[in-house]
Amino acid sequence: MKDNILIVGGYGKVGSIISRHLAELYPKKIIVAGRSFEKAKILSETLDHNVIPYHLDIDNQTDNAVLENTKLAVMCIDQKDTKFVELCIATGVHYIDITANQPFIDQIELLDEKAKSNNVIVALSIGLAPGITNLLAQHCANQISETNVIDIFILLGIGEKHGDAAYRWTFDNIHSSYNINDSGKTKTIKSFTLPQKSNLAGKRKFYTFNFSDQHTLAKTINTKQVLTRMAFDSTILTSLVALLRKSGLTKIFNYKIFQNICIYLFKKMKIGSDEFAVKAVAGNTANEIYECSLEGKGEGKTTAYIAIETVLYVIQNNFSNGVRHIHQIIENIPEFLENLKRYDSTIEVKYKNIRNNE
Ligand SMILES: NC(=O)c1ccc[n+]([C@@H]2O[C@H](COP(=O)([O-])OP(=O)(O)OC[C@H]3O[C@@H](n4cnc5c(N)ncnc54)[C@H](OP(=O)(O)O)[C@@H]3O)[C@@H](O)[C@H]2O)c1
Repeated sequence: MKDNILIVGGYGKVGSIISRHLAELYPKKIIVAGRSFEKAKILSETLDHNVIPYHLDIDNQTDNAVLENTKLAVMCIDQKDTKFVELCIATGVHYIDITANQPFIDQIELLDEKAKSNNVIVALSIGLAPGITNLLAQHCANQISETNVIDIFILLGIGEKHGDAAYRWTFDNIHSSYNINDSGKTKTIKSFTLPQKSNLAGKRKFYTFNFSDQHTLAKTINTKQVLTRMAFDSTILTSLVALLRKSGLTKIFNYKIFQNICIYLFKKMKIGSDEFAVKAVAGNTANEIYECSLEGKGEGKTTAYIAIETVLYVIQNNFSNGVRHIHQIIENIPEFLENLKRYDSTIEVKYKNIRNNE
């Protein structure tokens, strides 16, 4: 019977939280997979053997035996190609991916027709950013008559201890340039430039960053521009990175050896907090402005909660198949966000109609 849920990277930072919660709901039906069977076994032991440990190297996968009894796969690693996604689609396995890697997301989107013809849902933009930011932006756009501009602001706590993969994704993107759609024209933007002040857990400057949400939203919402900016909770660190970017010295973040040193230091350091906040603001020329924000603790934990809620949503709801982003899947966004408080009561969601000052 096809009723297992496979979690690839299931004992990693985000994956282990997904594994633990889903094991409570579906005991003995959760397969925790990664390149180390030992680590998967250790997690299984701490979860009273309610999950099944499994050795799987996604880059050197030779058979699809694990998918035979699998209903849904949750991917918690960044992959190099779409072979595994295609295998899931071909074997009728629903697929949920927490990746934040834009070029990879673009590749998966090309599999839409295959997913539709195999009655499979491929859910993307699952997490905080992309993820919650997509939902907030979509909700804002739904509240005004037409949308001209969407601005997204992301505040990250530097005190949070991430998994290696999440740190590397951030470092890889500090010294990057990327294209956005600006009123139908392609515009190249450098990361950590174009500062804009916004009030999110206090007033501060936010800088451009290549989060995938802005690209996806620009394709799926009728608007002239979507721009995502970020800041760290330490204003000194944010300004320092912006300064290094201006001088070009951020190039150093591209070197693996420097990344390794930074990862070691960030894991050891006891500075900053694990609090995060995200906000979307949608506006138009008729001066309608709507904003909503979500604040909480632990970006990784919250990414896991979003993934779990998406798993439950996919299993419990009947909707059309294909490759979809979270904001194209969830119908009642405020209700979905409210559900996150079941995992963490400190999560706070705010809605504000600025023109009417409601
Ligand atoms: N959407 C969002 O907002 C959001 C937020 C946070 C993180 N993320 C993304 O989530 C992903 C995971 O982050 P994390 O912090 O949980 O990282 P992590 O702790 O490093 O977890 C990655 C896991 O994947 C496993 N893995 C690595 N390569 C593999 C392979 N070839 N085959 C099978 N398993 C493999 C690793 O174990 P082994 O090395 O033992 O195989 C590890 O358990 C990252 O890609 C990150 O960018 C997204």
